[in-house]
Amino acid sequence: MSAAIEDVLALVRPDLQAFAGYSSARSAAVQGEVWLNANESAWANPADAAGGSRRYPEPQPLALREGLAALYGVTPQQLLVGRGSDEAIDLLVRALCVPGRDGVLVTPPVFGMYAVCARLQGAASIEVPLVDAEDGLRADLDAVIDTAKARNAKLVFLCAPSNPAGSDIALDEVERVAVALRGLALVVVDEAYVEYAQRPSATTLLAVNPNLAVLRTLSKAHALAAARIGTLIAAPELIAVLRRCQAPYPVPTPCAELAVQALQPAALARTAEHVTTVIAERERLCAALPALPGVRRVYRSSGNYLLVRFADAQAAFDTLLDAGVVVRDQRAAPQLSDALRISIGSPEENDRVLAALSARRAAA
Ligand SMILES: Cc1ncc(COP(=O)(O)O)c(C=O)c1O
Repeated sequence: MSAAIEDVLALVRPDLQAFAGYSSARSAAVQGEVWLNANESAWANPADAAGGSRRYPEPQPLALREGLAALYGVTPQQLLVGRGSDEAIDLLVRALCVPGRDGVLVTPPVFGMYAVCARLQGAASIEVPLVDAEDGLRADLDAVIDTAKARNAKLVFLCAPSNPAGSDIALDEVERVAVALRGLALVVVDEAYVEYAQRPSATTLLAVNPNLAVLRTLSKAHALAAARIGTLIAAPELIAVLRRCQAPYPVPTPCAELAVQALQPAALARTAEHVTTVIAERERLCAALPALPGVRRVYRSSGNYLLVRFADAQAAFDTLLDAGVVVRDQRAAPQLSDALRISIGSPEENDRVLAALSARRAAA
């Protein structure tokens, strides 16, 4: 094992580095015809016509792992599949952070699950706020590096594209952070929205940066939020340790089967078309919204949403709600006391957003 990989494994909680985890019936490498080793039922449930749910699932279904590995351009050994990227975030925090000692660096305003998982683990949330600049609400990566070093951050979450800010992080900047924190922290690039950013994934940096990990999901561009299929991509040695800390059967069979279908060429082609539509619609809304009454600022976005500041965010929220359109109120988030986040919908749905906000002028 290389010294660089040893440095990464040393980031895992000392009490878990040699942890064997739960040994499930499915993980034992045995062959047979009559399976009586997992206390399953001998009969399918009447609701399960094909009988596919009678048995416990493969812990990491091979067909799904192979499909995801091909999609993400990595090897199956670099993947951990779980219940959405939410599960991977939780797993990383639990496996790396010693409660009461280690910290998780986050860049608010940002996706809330990093801080929630840190709190549940008794790990400090170390905040390096985004900076509101002319070109957007951006991560201050020099401050990220300095603060991670000064405050014992074990995990550094870089949300790219960032939710809700919409800003992205260039890959050479991601690499700069990973290099600076080598041996000190695992840098996790959350790419839940990368399909909309039209750039290569940070997975292309993994080969030379073992203290980097990447989160991907089928919940957004692939339109499978309910199937809960998220993937952590990292050094195979780290994945092996995390697998031993994960729940025994994290991927339900119906969800795995649905996801495998979603990775077939025809489905991927449709997904790509929808991504193209969303990007065009995002740019249309981004151009149209600033002209509407009460809109103070629209941030450019690399995701499938726009962060918008309003003169009266409550009034804008209510106007949209009266038109039957529900958007995300961001006013409780730091720096966003006047902001709403609007997901990009179908062209017709987006027209409804524009029509509702334009009508405010007529009413005013
Ligand atoms: C940045 C970011 N990461 C991760 C997630 C969680 O996604 P999943 O459905 O894969 O758990 C979300 C969901 O909104 C998100 O915005």
